[in-house]
Amino acid sequence: MENPLNHLSGSQWLYWTNSLYPTNFPPDATHPLRKKHGAIKPPELMAEIISFFTKEGELVLDPFAGVGSTLLGAALVKRRAVGIELNAEWIRVFQEITANFSIAEAGLIRGKTGREIKGFIMHGDCLEELKKFPAGQVAAIITDPPYGCRHRVSFTGETNFAMYNPGENKDLGNAAGFDEYLAMMALFAEEAFRILPPRRYLVILIGDRYHQGEYYPLSTKVAQVIQRAGFKWKGMRIWWNQATQRPLRPYAIKRCYVSNITHQNILIFRKG
Ligand SMILES: C[S@@+](CC[C@H](N)C(=O)[O-])C[C@H]1O[C@@H](n2cnc3c(N)ncnc32)[C@H](O)[C@@H]1O
Repeated sequence: MENPLNHLSGSQWLYWTNSLYPTNFPPDATHPLRKKHGAIKPPELMAEIISFFTKEGELVLDPFAGVGSTLLGAALVKRRAVGIELNAEWIRVFQEITANFSIAEAGLIRGKTGREIKGFIMHGDCLEELKKFPAGQVAAIITDPPYGCRHRVSFTGETNFAMYNPGENKDLGNAAGFDEYLAMMALFAEEAFRILPPRRYLVILIGDRYHQGEYYPLSTKVAQVIQRAGFKWKGMRIWWNQATQRPLRPYAIKRCYVSNITHQNILIFRKG
């Protein structure tokens, strides 16, 4: 049977449908540069996701590109990639990586002896820039947006928070509240739906939160917004990277139950 989506065998496909997704990717060669950003993802993880939702040579779009981990993942598995990012500093980090690293058998290496890392990150607000993308040219949108708003208020000290753009109201992470954040996600979803060809996938990495003393299922709320734009919600993988596990925090010990949220959700949507 012809497989229109990817190059995986039946058993590789089956394995990747497991809703639990533990990984153990250690920091890669570009990590010391990328870690200036407080919310990076392993390029190897992005490569696995991209390998499921595209074929070699196809174009992947990441509208919340950060320092370009999705683009590095695409390069690892020979896909083309384009990103959009609000903060020029993160684009500069990506450019430093493409200028000084390449891809060898073992993955990303310092030096230019391996395969060239291609990929381009546009500077701007993705809610505006996406409007300029023609429909039908991108094979998959795979992205890791800010996880809601005012994150630093509840999590100060747990991460470097350098993913925020202080005072920049176009940053979804600076939305005044979850309603405003979800309204911005709705605008993103509308454009993503227009750009993708039928039967192609939008994949969003996102974590749940605590808000006003309660578990706030941000992934589910985002999924509902994406569905309203016309996408079908096809599944979710619960991703846990053992290698970068933070120590458990003693939230409200002996007072009340508070989860240590150590996983992130990978939401999978299809256009039609
Ligand atoms: C969770 S981070 C992505 C990190 C990325 N996965 C990586 O590994 O580098 C989200 C990014 O979205 C960017 N961002 C927030 N609002 C944006 C907008 N409206 N347009 C484009 N980028 C935006 C932030 O500056 C931040 O770098």
